[in-house]
Amino acid sequence: MKPLPFNLADIQPLLSEHPTPLYIYDEEGIRSQIRKLLAAFSWNEGFREYFAVKALPNPEILRIAKSEGCGADCSSMVELLIADKAGITGGDIMFSSNDTPAEEFKAAMERGAHVNLDDINHLDFLEEVAGLPELICFRFNPGSVQGGNAIIGDPKEAKFGLTRDQMFEAYESAKAKGIKRFGLHTMPISNELNITYFLEAAERVFTLAKEIEEKVGITFEFINLGGGLGIPYKPGQKELDIEGLGSGLKHVYEKIFGERQSPVKLFLESGRYITGPFGFLVSKVRHVKDSYKQYVGLDASMANLMRPGMYGAYHHITVLGKEHEAQGMVYDVVGSLCENNDKFAIDRQLPPMEAGDVVVIHDAGAHGHAMGFNYNGKLRSAEFIMHPDKTFTMIRRAETPEDLFATLVS
Ligand code: LLP
Repeated sequence: MKPLPFNLADIQPLLSEHPTPLYIYDEEGIRSQIRKLLAAFSWNEGFREYFAVKALPNPEILRIAKSEGCGADCSSMVELLIADKAGITGGDIMFSSNDTPAEEFKAAMERGAHVNLDDINHLDFLEEVAGLPELICFRFNPGSVQGGNAIIGDPKEAKFGLTRDQMFEAYESAKAKGIKRFGLHTMPISNELNITYFLEAAERVFTLAKEIEEKVGITFEFINLGGGLGIPYKPGQKELDIEGLGSGLKHVYEKIFGERQSPVKLFLESGRYITGPFGFLVSKVRHVKDSYKQYVGLDASMANLMRPGMYGAYHHITVLGKEHEAQGMVYDVVGSLCENNDKFAIDRQLPPMEAGDVVVIHDAGAHGHAMGFNYNGKLRSAEFIMHPDKTFTMIRRAETPEDLFATLVS
């Protein structure tokens, strides 16, 4: 397990000023991860990472990503507004949405974003509500040729994208409408550590792109391979081999595209890989309960981090100050929701714990705070960036009851 970038003494000043739970994001970690990713794909002229806003929708994080050379992958109106706040616009935005309302297509077009369509019928819809774009992209769903997992689902059961046959038809129709610039999108994996799956999927997509180019008579400017790069949530799991992925992809690219006249730019929309390992949910133990099992009740709940309850996802837990104690207890680590799946860990070996202990839940920097909700009147926590000198900047305050009541009409 990667060591934490802070210890109890480092965050004590923060905890003395702000109540838990709270999120901490390690700026240095995020920056160096982006650099690592960009370096691995630097062989591809025009390579671009569009940070998936849904993973960590905070403008301050987008500003960091932008300063490292990333664009933004937005999937909704509010995500476009978050990109606005970070000053990301035009072709620096990839708009990858589904079941999209007219006003969101309009907003994406107004910003000059690359629009990625999830359905063959959306080209007519887009034309009707927002006019035709200069460049169009369609999302490919590989269907039964590929397996899936608990997060992204089995592709042929997944609601996303166009079938193989529809991909040909869609570009024919875009060409017939006079569109001259084209991209192709797919999101074949989610949280995948095995680069072979990614390379196999890339080969299928590159082959498809080439077939479409030949059959339809168009040229792709880019292929967007989506997000889905995995992170090692569990102890013992190895990090994704990003250099191996970069060089493997180069090999596949050269095999399929060879000496192509105009090089195809590759895009990624990674979220988890960029921020996942660098976000931490910090919480305190409220109660320790001994009933049929041993429970540790935190002041955070599933409303702060839904992944364990929703997917049974593993998130490592460190009890600050007890890192070197024997893990002599087996606990269910729970929150206070009236939901029995409000558990951060089940039967987890941990050191003996008591009220007041500070607990860090690892790898919560992507799809963590972002998936928060307000069930049982739970309030979303504050978010902080930890700078390289271990100073902290609040980038979102904690919600108050008044925030929840602000939408009431009475
Ligand atoms: N692009 C598209 C079109 C996506 O649908 C997603 C994620 C991403 C990029 C970013 O994927 P990433 O690199 O972050 O894996 N809530 C789940 C993840 C859902 C993924 C949805 N789409 C989780 O907590 O694991």
